[in-house]
Amino acid sequence: MSLSDIEVAAAAAKAGAKAIHAGFGNPQQVELKGPVDLVTETDRATEAIVIEVLERERPQDGIRAEEGTERSGSRTWVVDPIDGTTNFVHAVPHCCSTLALLDEGEIIAGATANPFTDELFLAARGEGAWLESGGLRRKLSVSKNTEFVNGMFVTGFPYNREGAGYQRIASTWDKLSSISRATRRTGSAALDIAYVAAGRYDGYVVSGAKVWDIAAGILMVVEAGGCICDLTGDVWGIDSAGCIASNGMLHDSLLELVLEG
Ligand code: IPD
Ligand code: CA
Ligand code: CA
Repeated sequence: MSLSDIEVAAAAAKAGAKAIHAGFGNPQQVELKGPVDLVTETDRATEAIVIEVLERERPQDGIRAEEGTERSGSRTWVVDPIDGTTNFVHAVPHCCSTLALLDEGEIIAGATANPFTDELFLAARGEGAWLESGGLRRKLSVSKNTEFVNGMFVTGFPYNREGAGYQRIASTWDKLSSISRATRRTGSAALDIAYVAAGRYDGYVVSGAKVWDIAAGILMVVEAGGCICDLTGDVWGIDSAGCIASNGMLHDSLLELVLEG
């Protein structure tokens, strides 16, 4: 029997998480993609393992993966084998494997697996978003918080520290820190946004995230009842320079804060 798209996403993310776990703490060959943008042999090995699952289960689909795998097809899997490579390199156990399926630009399924907490976040368009952990699967829903002062927020900075995107996140982080209960910068976009869907964070603002970082999480947030837009308040698209994800209730205020610059 063939697997559904979400089952394929889950299998591939879990295989990726297993490969991250196997490489974690081992000496790595680290290369620079930019001054502070790292890639390791485990990023490449994990990508190969995730791609192997996709090629076996969905040979007709296209692939666009961060470490270079490209294949065309009518639908496209976007893959980040390790999201949170800097954490991985420093042996900080906060990173994951994430992927999503796009059909004509629309995200239809996604999965994000954290090898260190044994958590698998999943979403299927129109069906819902779930967290699978300890053999149980539960439906995700965003937080119900309506006040910044009761909320926890998270931000994602781009690797390019010279651009306007970096300044925007720095000033958003500063403002959020002074009006919220707590503000974080964790180094894994895919986990940050999945945590918004799970109601752990009330909002997330990132600049410089690529489609493979956040596509799975965007679907999770939407399916969990939250809101998504780009950094100008427009509809997020696969080429958008950034994203705001929230529980919906705080969305307009969060956007206003980001637009203030
Ligand atoms: C990065 C992380 C980081 C985010 C960056 C991403 P990588 O991904 O998710 O939190 O702020 O935009 O590029 O390089 O670890 O896969
Ligand atoms: Ca990433
Ligand atoms: Ca990556």
